[in-house]
Amino acid sequence: MTAQSKLENLKVEALSKMQAASSSQALYNVKVEFLGKNGLLTEIMKEMASLSKEEKPAFGKSVNEVKQALEQAYEGFETALKAKEIEEKMNSEEVDLTLPGFTRPRGSVHPVHLVINEIYSIMSRLGYAIRQGPLIELDSYNFEALNIPADHPARDMQDTFFIDKTHVLRTHTSPIQIHSLESEKPPLRIIGTGAVFRCDSDISHLPHFHQIEGMCVDRKVSMGDLKGTISFFVKEFFGGDLKTRFRPSFFPFTEPSAEVDCTCPICKGKGCSMCKHTGWIEIGGCGLINPKVLAHAQVKYPEWQGFAFGFGIERMAIIKYGVDDIRLFPENDLRFLRQFEM
Ligand code: DAH
Repeated sequence: MTAQSKLENLKVEALSKMQAASSSQALYNVKVEFLGKNGLLTEIMKEMASLSKEEKPAFGKSVNEVKQALEQAYEGFETALKAKEIEEKMNSEEVDLTLPGFTRPRGSVHPVHLVINEIYSIMSRLGYAIRQGPLIELDSYNFEALNIPADHPARDMQDTFFIDKTHVLRTHTSPIQIHSLESEKPPLRIIGTGAVFRCDSDISHLPHFHQIEGMCVDRKVSMGDLKGTISFFVKEFFGGDLKTRFRPSFFPFTEPSAEVDCTCPICKGKGCSMCKHTGWIEIGGCGLINPKVLAHAQVKYPEWQGFAFGFGIERMAIIKYGVDDIRLFPENDLRFLRQFEM
């Protein structure tokens, strides 16, 4: 049999198989058998070798024609079969439009993140930009640059998880201040939030909790600016006419330093178990940035001065939402989390 007649037979056979195909899948299988990469049409091209130089072009052309014809036929059969299949499906399946739909459980934002989002929204109105820092810090960023040298007694305040000799899980968000001072030029107003870690765990302490850090560096910065900023922030965050008070304190990275209390939002200052009957709740520390910290980051003092503050986020959430156990935050009990659904 000549190559040409083999080709003719192949075409006839392919067409009849396509016609006989009863489903679009069966039709597709026929397509693969004949037109596929290793199909019969490719196979027949091997006949080329046995042809004379003059016969070759004509045979090549015929193969192409057969290929096109088969592809065209395939499309025609496919359209018809698909339409038939849809028709059959519609006739055999019944859709009951009166059935109730599926209700999908909705997620909600974790209260820690509700607090973080609100902090961002309040502080961005004061021109603060958001900055982040690594959770694994060099010892030098977590301590040294913040004026806490290796043998300084203030390190006792930080129960540190050491990773190796030079790396720690950051014990506070204050190193974010250093990253910003080193990589940006003043004037600066930044806010940073995130997880911090301390080897400490009881009813009111978690080994893994969150803080917010704020820093403002400008030409003239005073305790008055700091108090104004924090009072505004506390009023916006807790709402109502909560008062803030500043108690003298000590942090190596600020001078002078203060601790910030706000009126207990539960009893409005009258005294309750939440505020240990003092009427005040402590939310964090603050102060004017110690010139030593600025000098360490090559920022010129007194040309540039600054204030900083650091608050505990779970603490703020406890006060705002009236949560009575800090351990509820990392537990992720859905009964707790669902109370924050919007
Ligand atoms: N880093 C301190 C802590 O974890 C909190 C703090 C106090 C941050 C005073 C500050 C600050 O920025 O000025 O206990």
